[in-house]
Amino acid sequence: MPISAVISGTGRSVPSRVVTNRDLEKIVDTSDEWITTRTGIRERRIAGEGEVMSQFATEACRQALEAAGVPPADVDLIICATVTPAMPIPATSCTIQQQLGCVRAAAFDMQAGCSGFIYAQSVAKQFLLTGRYQHVLIVGAELLSKFLDWKDRATCVIFADGAGAALMSRGELPRGVLSSVLHTDGSMSDLIVMTGGGTKHPPTEATVREGLHYIRMKGNETFKIAVRSLEEVSREALALAGLTTDDVDVFIPHQANQRIIDAVGARLGIPAERSYVNIDRYGNTSAASIPIALDEAVRIGRIRTGDVVLMAAFGAGLTWAGSVVRW
Ligand code: ACO
Repeated sequence: MPISAVISGTGRSVPSRVVTNRDLEKIVDTSDEWITTRTGIRERRIAGEGEVMSQFATEACRQALEAAGVPPADVDLIICATVTPAMPIPATSCTIQQQLGCVRAAAFDMQAGCSGFIYAQSVAKQFLLTGRYQHVLIVGAELLSKFLDWKDRATCVIFADGAGAALMSRGELPRGVLSSVLHTDGSMSDLIVMTGGGTKHPPTEATVREGLHYIRMKGNETFKIAVRSLEEVSREALALAGLTTDDVDVFIPHQANQRIIDAVGARLGIPAERSYVNIDRYGNTSAASIPIALDEAVRIGRIRTGDVVLMAAFGAGLTWAGSVVRW
């Protein structure tokens, strides 16, 4: 049998603190009605004081290893996809490695906006298919709340916190990642930004005063591009796998906006009951959104052995990506 890269275990971890739309009504000029009808979000998880991104990432990874029955010492590589690392140096993946006891694993972080988990999946797949590695742990983890301007109603009602992980292992077809497609268009990089905190605008009193450390998004312009890109990349990934939308058992889109998910589903001809949606409970957790949804879908039995799972994401960069996995 030809070798493949299979997802052998999944996990997730989110802060226990729930922030509802009603809670947000008290701090910003918005309404439960606006947020629900425009985004589909009803509540989200927001980290409390002292909670750090690495703790959620580590816990999600721990669950993925447990689900796969693979000991930490057998992991060859850890990739953490994030736009909100615990700190700039060292990479959060190194903290995860230490906390899990993955003593043999190499580790690095990568940044591809909300598409990060699918990008990480694709990188992991290459290492598994070449035969170099046996087990690669990938995790999408974000504490976006730490970079939100709680006076900016265009972003603070949307973004949230959490982590989701998957252990990818060398396996055999017909199971495994059948196709991965990655895209980038840097000419639209201004649509979703956090301009401060890097080497262009290192943190100073002035950058903090000007709010350069906050995430800003031109949501309306992003919306139309997101719908088109998610449809196109889904079709591309399916075609590369030799499949069509009729073959999709479960569609896991990036949880950015219920209206985007509905529009993409309609364009693809994938009925709502075949899409997995949890944006109502978690909001947009960027790179964590797909792996959190994936883990939920697996644990409640929505995804079963042999199922064809389509994943598609879109985010800052702009980046967009799709993958097809036979479970
Ligand atoms: N509460 C009440 N009113 C609001 C709010 C709010 N929270 N936010 C915006 N409004 C107002 C605006 O001020 C505007 O008012 P006006 O008409 O008087 O000017 C009106 O609502 C409409 O604003 P739009 O921005 O056009 O609202 P839209 O329907 O586009 O919804 C949203 C905004 C939810 C952000 C949507 O555009 C969206 O989901 N965009 C895509 C986001 C996305 O996919 N991002 C990529 C992933 S993120 C990443 O990579 C990190």
